[in-house]
Amino acid sequence: MALNTINPTETNAWKKLEMHYNEMQKASMQELFQLDATRTEKFNLKWNDFLIDYSKNIINQETLQLLLELADEVGLKSAIAEYFDGAIINQTENRAVLHTALRAQESAVINVDGNNVIPEIYEVKNKIKKFTNEVTSGERMGYTGKPFTDVVNIGIGGSDLGPAMAVEALQFYKNHLNVHFVSNVDGDHINEIIKKLNPETTLFVIVSKTFTTQETLTNSETIRKWFLSRDFGTTQEDIAKHFVAVSTNMQKVTEFGINPNNVFPMWDWVGGRFSLWSAVGLTISLAVGYDNFDEFLQGANEMDEHFRTANFDQNMPVTLALLSIWYNNFFGAESEALIPYTQYLQKLAPYLQQGTMESNGKSVGRDGKTINYQTGTIIWGEPGTNAQHAFFQLIHQGTKLIPADFIGFVTPLYGDYDHHDKLMSNFFAQTEALMHGKTEAQVQAEFDKQGISEDKAKFLLPFKVFTGNKPTNTILIQKLSPKTLGSLIALYEHKIFVQGVIWNIFSFDQWGVELGKQLANSILDEINTKTIKSHDSSTAFLLNHFLMNK
Ligand code: F6P
Repeated sequence: MALNTINPTETNAWKKLEMHYNEMQKASMQELFQLDATRTEKFNLKWNDFLIDYSKNIINQETLQLLLELADEVGLKSAIAEYFDGAIINQTENRAVLHTALRAQESAVINVDGNNVIPEIYEVKNKIKKFTNEVTSGERMGYTGKPFTDVVNIGIGGSDLGPAMAVEALQFYKNHLNVHFVSNVDGDHINEIIKKLNPETTLFVIVSKTFTTQETLTNSETIRKWFLSRDFGTTQEDIAKHFVAVSTNMQKVTEFGINPNNVFPMWDWVGGRFSLWSAVGLTISLAVGYDNFDEFLQGANEMDEHFRTANFDQNMPVTLALLSIWYNNFFGAESEALIPYTQYLQKLAPYLQQGTMESNGKSVGRDGKTINYQTGTIIWGEPGTNAQHAFFQLIHQGTKLIPADFIGFVTPLYGDYDHHDKLMSNFFAQTEALMHGKTEAQVQAEFDKQGISEDKAKFLLPFKVFTGNKPTNTILIQKLSPKTLGSLIALYEHKIFVQGVIWNIFSFDQWGVELGKQLANSILDEINTKTIKSHDSSTAFLLNHFLMNK
């Protein structure tokens, strides 16, 4: 079974949405709120520890109805079933897409090629648990018999961003291990990390689904050379104590010299950018302990169940996805901001950039035809309140429409309500300000109060007006915990899936990253041999400059 191919713009719902947009493009949220006292009651969702208020959007009941019709017309219901059941929905790579299986209950049965994958998943989970406990308890030691103090995750893209984001997000739950991440092939990155390490007490986790990625292999080689340097008195045998790998490619891992017992397998039906739930999350488990890692999986599993079973009008991922389609495809919004009101989620936007943009940055439909409508949204963001002091000016008064998700927590982890109430008052104030704006009359009233002269007031007035009407979703969660983090990440994963289904694209391949990799390999040969071959004049000019000056 494969996902069907329906050009969304040819559906009845899309045509109706286009007509509806003509009415709504001039709608003002302020008026919509005035007209309907029950608006927020209609446009909010509650589930577990999550509340999503999406009433501050340029929508009415009809908008929602038509978006839901669109979801029905493109066959979202059956697509969700295929996704969870392990159908080959990643058709260009001929693979199922089953990161959801990684967090399924042990009693579940999910077949890939007729084999239930749950027992293998639990086998690997048990291996992660045992290894984590051995490292954190000090039972597993380095080559001089000392317990590990540091863990270095070596990987890139999905083999880095997910664990790095989650370890940062769950810092409050962290144990004594110092965790480092090396991703960039930039030698300065790895040398900066190496400076901080003691080989006797450092564990290296090499994470690469393919084990062919240039950045990860180069970094791993550099670390191995450093580890085996004469000064440390290490031998080849010590590698087994200090290096473990997470990969699907057993052959390449063994060629690298890693003991097969130290390999944590993963499967080709786990996409890199959705892999933190697999053994790719080993570093998360090491950092916060296995029980917390398991809670993280549990939170994602609960969101999976919500997504799979809730009616679309009560469904959080479906609602966020449809609203995003509304702005992207009808209002022409180019990007979306993600503003978490917690410093812990500072890596959420970079993480979801890969999830969203690698998945849905496509321009060919599932029928192989070039598509004639916008897909993949651009995701960006920073934690509030820092973001307010950086780019909020543009969101409030710039020329672009930037729908934004505000993510906040009711309870602060250290219980510091002096700070938290200040933080959260900003959280609430911003969405209100973005929606309401400030009218000329309000600005004038302020001038009058301040006794500003008529001339000055006349000059300043246009600069001080805020049009408002800027859409936001408020995602208010009880507390940042491994479980709620798992649910939050799964919420966005499913949003990505829904959008891919509606846009009629394959969300789970990433051919677009290949061309640059290929060219980089041939340019590296040219740099090594100092022979610049045929390039466009700009690239040749730059390469010559580099070679002459290096
Ligand atoms: O950048 C492309 C990509 O294939 C990502 O999708 C993936 O997460 C990353 O490279 C790393 O790949 P690997 O885990 O195989 O080293």
